[in-house]
Amino acid sequence: MSREFSIEDYKMAVGSFVTGITVVTASGEEGPVGFTCQSFTSLSLDPPTILISVAQTSRTLSTISSEKKFCVNILSTGSVRIAHDFAFMDPAVRFTIHSWNRSGTGNPVLEAALVWLDCELVRSIEVEDHLVAVGRVVSLGASEEGRDPLTYYRGDFGAFAQLNDE
Ligand SMILES: Cc1cc2nc3c(=O)[nH]c(=O)nc-3n(C[C@H](O)[C@H](O)[C@H](O)COP(=O)(O)O)c2cc1C
Repeated sequence: MSREFSIEDYKMAVGSFVTGITVVTASGEEGPVGFTCQSFTSLSLDPPTILISVAQTSRTLSTISSEKKFCVNILSTGSVRIAHDFAFMDPAVRFTIHSWNRSGTGNPVLEAALVWLDCELVRSIEVEDHLVAVGRVVSLGASEEGRDPLTYYRGDFGAFAQLNDE
């Protein structure tokens, strides 16, 4: 079926859905790997599962697939640089310029994370040029300081603003 809109129209349409921004990390023989990821969502509560959508071209994907685990680091407004670097910077230097530790399962946890969720890969579904990875959350943590969540809207980073009922 032919479509009646351009890819730019499509990006504008789906980009109108405001999301947070995460860095998804994993660790294998080649060391820590990770990438900036917008396509994170919670999936089920009992047991707690989440999903991410990863481009088939992602270098992080092969480590997630082989190690069968990954960590979702939810970013705060102070981490625009991290979001940029984990998308555009050489993967070899991403973990040398931003501080991180290891979760109990060995996945990289960014020190700057607002919240992190350590996941066991329970299902992978290939859909066109992406792979949907479903993770069961095995542990999580939150930053102690009052950090604010980073948002993303039509290609721009932003901040959350609470609206009070009139
Ligand atoms: C704001 C933003 C959101 C992104 N979201 C995703 C995403 O959901 N899935 C994905 O596969 N790539 C996403 N990317 C692109 C990857 O971060 C980028 O291609 C990265 O270099 C992949 O790294 P890797 O090949 O080392 O895994 C996003 C990039 C940006 C700037």
